[in-house]
Amino acid sequence: MNTLVKGIHHITLCPGGAQEDVDFFTQVLAQRLVKQTVLMDGSIPIYHLYYGNADAEVGSIATSFPYSRKPGRAGSGQLSATVYTIPNGTATFWKDHFDRHNVEHSGVQERFGRKYVRVKHPVGLLFEVMEEPADTRNAWATKEVSKDVATRGFFGAVLSVRDVRDQEQFFTEALRFKKIGVDGPYHRFQAGDGVGNVIDLHHEPDRAPGSWGFGAGTAHHIAMNLETDEALSKQKAWYEELGFTDTSEIKDRFYFHSMYTRSPGGILVECTANVPGGFYQDETPEELGTKLHLPPWYEDQREAIVSQLEPITVPEENRPKTGTTATPAHVVAAKHDPVEESKVPLSRYKAAFTEKQ
Ligand SMILES: [Fe+2]
Repeated sequence: MNTLVKGIHHITLCPGGAQEDVDFFTQVLAQRLVKQTVLMDGSIPIYHLYYGNADAEVGSIATSFPYSRKPGRAGSGQLSATVYTIPNGTATFWKDHFDRHNVEHSGVQERFGRKYVRVKHPVGLLFEVMEEPADTRNAWATKEVSKDVATRGFFGAVLSVRDVRDQEQFFTEALRFKKIGVDGPYHRFQAGDGVGNVIDLHHEPDRAPGSWGFGAGTAHHIAMNLETDEALSKQKAWYEELGFTDTSEIKDRFYFHSMYTRSPGGILVECTANVPGGFYQDETPEELGTKLHLPPWYEDQREAIVSQLEPITVPEENRPKTGTTATPAHVVAAKHDPVEESKVPLSRYKAAFTEKQ
């Protein structure tokens, strides 16, 4: 069987307030806001904000559901840190940058011989910037974080588990990751050969389990890029052969197709297929993330949805500048199933959003 998982597609987190999240991602992590849309499950309008590198590349996309209406509980059985690559020798720059923003951080640390700094989002979510010399992806620059020090995309993620065994088997057998090594309580796995697809299982046997549903301060899931609908169907069959019969149906998320599986350690794992145009279907490279887009099947409820969302603003210096966001054609036309109409049955949920009184 060929490897169906090509790497990480995106990581989805639940912050609290939307503006607080935009400010942290765009100013502290120096990410580009690349899409404003809404959560497609449930009947309460919740933003779905996407942040990424200059090209909004798969494998650089952190997404957030600002869920201030309900707190979550961080713990084991969850993704505990989202990790970005930074150029070699820049960990100290990032430590100083975090100091300037008065955000809590770990100082420069080392894991598997690489320098990194761990930093805390105001809601408690953890991020790391990890030195990785081989990453040539197109970084997004801001006034404070120039291209030569900026993040390139994901290095990977840290997942907290109380028992490594079954989660390890899930990664190596169900998703075909390779085990790379062990450093103290960290067990490292990698998908494919490229940069940016590393999973560190953090063995924390005494850590209480975190919550599974949407809740501020917790990660919700990690998504793997399988590229095509055909690969999703094969992966679904492979999951079922291994006994993971709780895998969801394949859902139409407009910018990609998704199916979800609860993995043995408790972490929700999504598998995705790309669709023609991806994030560029409804915006030009320079317009990405500048206004709220709804999937076509929600457009008739735009007024009710918008009236229930807090307005957000991207700081001026973090917005795209004309002529600076030319995006390579290979990124715009991300690999996808060449047949326009998907050959797999897609599930599409449509809620009725009641207008706020
Ligand atoms: Fe997702």
